[in-house]
Amino acid sequence: MKTTTDLQRRKLLKYTAIGIAGAVTYPSWTQAAGELVRVNKPSTDFLPDVEIELTMNTAEAAILKGEKTRVWKITGKVIKGDSGVLDNNEGTYLAPTLSFKKGQKVRLILNNDLPAQSILHWHGLHVPANMDGNPMYAINRGETYIYEFEILNRAGTYFYHSHAHGVTARQVYSGLAGLFIVSDDQEQALHLPSGNLDVPLVIQDRSFDGQNQLVYSANMMQRMQGFLGDQILVNGRPDFALPVATRAYRLRLVNGSNSRIYKLAWDDGTPMTVIGVDGGLLEKPEQHAYVMLAPGQRRELWVDFSKREIGAELTLRSLQFDIDMHSGMGMMGHGMMGHGHGMMGGMMSASSLTLGSDYPILKIRVAKKEQGDNTLPKTLTPIAELHAKNAANAGKPKTIALSMAHMSALLNGRSYKMDDIQPDEIIPVNSLQLIEFDNGFDGGMHGMMDMPHPMHLHGEQFQIVKREVSAHVTDNYATVSSGLINSGWQDTVLVMPGEKVTILKPFNDFKGLFMYHCHNLEHEDMGMMRDFLIK
Ligand code: C2O
Ligand code: CU
Ligand code: CU
Repeated sequence: MKTTTDLQRRKLLKYTAIGIAGAVTYPSWTQAAGELVRVNKPSTDFLPDVEIELTMNTAEAAILKGEKTRVWKITGKVIKGDSGVLDNNEGTYLAPTLSFKKGQKVRLILNNDLPAQSILHWHGLHVPANMDGNPMYAINRGETYIYEFEILNRAGTYFYHSHAHGVTARQVYSGLAGLFIVSDDQEQALHLPSGNLDVPLVIQDRSFDGQNQLVYSANMMQRMQGFLGDQILVNGRPDFALPVATRAYRLRLVNGSNSRIYKLAWDDGTPMTVIGVDGGLLEKPEQHAYVMLAPGQRRELWVDFSKREIGAELTLRSLQFDIDMHSGMGMMGHGMMGHGHGMMGGMMSASSLTLGSDYPILKIRVAKKEQGDNTLPKTLTPIAELHAKNAANAGKPKTIALSMAHMSALLNGRSYKMDDIQPDEIIPVNSLQLIEFDNGFDGGMHGMMDMPHPMHLHGEQFQIVKREVSAHVTDNYATVSSGLINSGWQDTVLVMPGEKVTILKPFNDFKGLFMYHCHNLEHEDMGMMRDFLIK
C-alpha cells in the first residue's frame, strides 16, 4: 500500500478526526511515523458476511461487430460468501452486478490497476462517510481501498460508479459503473417476479469511432449540455433484445448515462406500471403514460406478457419531449438557444441522437409459453411519510440555487472545492432537513442556459415534498411533468428549468462529508458538486 498524497493526507487528518457517530469506526486509519497512512489491511473487529475483491483494469469488450472496444472494466472475485452475490457481466464493460441482503456486512476490497486515480461510490447507500467514495479518497494505480459496511438500506436497485473528481464522467463512460441490488424479507414476502423474471436494464448512450473505439469528447458545448452519445446500449450491448415468457416481469431500469434524460414508454400505448424508484418499492403500484428517467435514477416496472401471443413484440422507446422551458425571458440564453429546441434540443448537439427526440431503447419478444402466478400485489411496502414540521429547519428551508454560466455550473454560486465547507453546508447529525432546489424558479439565478439538473444527495434516501413551477414556464413542461414520479424514497431528483423542488432528507447515523451534486456527470465534473459536513 502506497501512502496517500500530501493533500489527501491533510484531508484525511481533518475529516477522519471528526469521526463517525456511533460505534462504527472501521476500517481503521493509523498514524504511522507522524503521518496518516491508509491501512492496507482489513479491520479485525469487522466480521464480514460477504467479502469481494474488485479490481479495476483496462480490458477489451466485444460490443459491436468487428474490432473489440477498449474499456475500463471492474472484475470481481468472491472471497467469502455465496457465489451468487457477484455476476461479472463478462464480455461487457459493465461492472459486476452485486446482490446483497439487508443486514449483511460486506467487505469490498478495491484494487486500482488503471492508469489513473479512481474511487468507487455506492450510489443510494447509507454508509459511513469514509466508505462513501468521496473524491478525496481516490487511490492511485497499485493502491487498494478497503470498504467495510453493513447494508442498512431497504431492498432496492442501487448502483455504484467512479467518483474521482474532474474525471467521473470519462471514467463512468469508459465502464466504471455497475448494479448494487439489495433484497430484504419484506420485499421477498411480496413474491414479485424473481429469478429470470427479474431483469435489471442499465440504459446508457455511447459513441464509437470507425475502429469501434469509444469516443468521449467534452468540448465547451458538450460540457455545458452534457455528453450525448449516438447510440443506446442496454446492459452494455447495442440493439438490445429481451426474449420473455408469457409471465409477469420486474424490470429494473437504471439510467447509467452521463447526461441523457429518457422519457420511457411502451410503443403500443400500454401504461407503465411503476413499482419502485431509487430507494426501493413504492407503497403501491402507479400507472403512468410515460416515465422520465434522469441520470442516476432508477425506476422499476412491472409488466405482464401472459396475455400476449408467442412472437409478439413490444418496444420500449424514449418519446419526444421539450426541455426549453422559459418563454420570453429576455436573457442571453434564449438568443443562444434559438427557438423551440435550443441548444439542448440538438441544434448544436454533437450527437446524432438528439435529446428529447423519439427513438427505441430496447425490444421485447414473447418467445415461450409458461404457466405461473402473474398477479401484481395491490400494495407493496409501507413507507413512513416524512413531515416538514419535523424538520430541524422547518419553515426555513435550505435553498440550493442551480445555475450555469460562463463555463461553470454552480450550486448557490459556488463551484466544487475540496475542503471548502461553508456555514450553510454544515448539518447536525441525526436531523431531518428541508431542502429546496431552485432551478430558476424565482427568476433570480438565471445564467446563460436553462437546463434540467438531476440533483443527487449522498447518504440516506429522501422524500419529495412538492414541485413548484414558475409562472413563465411554457407548455413544454407538460411534455415531461406526468412522468416525474414523486412518491417513495429517492436519491436523485430531476429539477426542470423554472422549477423549485422541495425535499425532506434525513441525515442520520454518520458524521463526515456527504456530497450533493448534479448527476449530469459533465456538470458534476464542471464543479456542480459540493459537500455537506454532517457533525
Ligand atoms: Cu451517483 Cu455522487 O453519485
Ligand atoms: Cu451517490
Ligand atoms: Cu446539471
